[in-house]
Amino acid sequence: MKIAIINGPNINLQGYREVEYYGNSTYAQLINEVKNHAKQNKLYIRWYQSNHEGQLVDIIQGCRDNYDAIIINAAAYTHTSIAILDALLAVGLPTVEVHLSDLSQRENFRKVSYLRKACLTNFQGEGARSYFKAMDYLIEELSK
Ligand code: DQA
Repeated sequence: MKIAIINGPNINLQGYREVEYYGNSTYAQLINEVKNHAKQNKLYIRWYQSNHEGQLVDIIQGCRDNYDAIIINAAAYTHTSIAILDALLAVGLPTVEVHLSDLSQRENFRKVSYLRKACLTNFQGEGARSYFKAMDYLIEELSK
């Protein structure tokens, strides 16, 4: 199974931004842990990160015919981007939304996800484990 893991703005600052929400394990550690989990589960993954909305749309469009599923942490664009929602709907791949922090415990504006409509489910509040859970969920769902 081939999964694109797509990350939005500031995820690359993991490890030194708002450690009270995101913890202090580094961005490199996050990628490493996600790659190790994929390897243990015999998944092919490719990690993407961009700070630019249009580039995220381009990446999502490029997933069509190239991946079996998408895991997306669109970061702040989760709460604003109809363009990213439309790209996910257009591509139509099984998609899972993830977040490092627990949005239910944060500001009200983070409780709205524009992307949820295009996603099978979401995992949040568990750091790298949110990504592991998304992979495990897709393995289970796509083998049905
Ligand atoms: C985030 C939560 C978003 O609200 C925030 O804008 C982010 C990261 C998370 O992973 O917890 O940048 O998506």
